[in-house]
Amino acid sequence: MYSEKVMDHFQNPRNVGEIEDASGVGTVGNAKCGDIMRIFLDIDEEGIIRDVKFKTFGCGAAVATSSMATELVKGKTIQEAMQVTNKAVMEALDGLPPVKVHCSLLAEEAIHAALWDYAEKNGITIEGLERPKSDIGEHEEEPEY
Ligand code: FES
Repeated sequence: MYSEKVMDHFQNPRNVGEIEDASGVGTVGNAKCGDIMRIFLDIDEEGIIRDVKFKTFGCGAAVATSSMATELVKGKTIQEAMQVTNKAVMEALDGLPPVKVHCSLLAEEAIHAALWDYAEKNGITIEGLERPKSDIGEHEEEPEY
């Protein structure tokens, strides 16, 4: 059901933890499944993401996608981090089962929320970044089983 990469990132998640005085912090949840993800970004003066950590209170797929998402944005510019969509995360994990696709959206939204927080703190605008939703389940369609 799960790829080896998903199992690896679930069992040995990378970048777990918190960053004190982070440049940006983003928290998003999905009220439907009750899962919550928080991402911390440390961004330097040149706009490079020097460090990133996450805490996820959620399912295994949410843990694996947050782990992979943090690996994909580490050392990147803000604009490069904007390209880390849930599809990119899923591809890097060699796919997720269809019922678990929504979990990868948490990772994308949490990164966007942390970037939004960073932009607000610094009075800047990040091209293509929209105000993140704190509950990504709000407008989600009912899953079919
Ligand atoms: Fe909710 Fe995976 S079941 S994030």
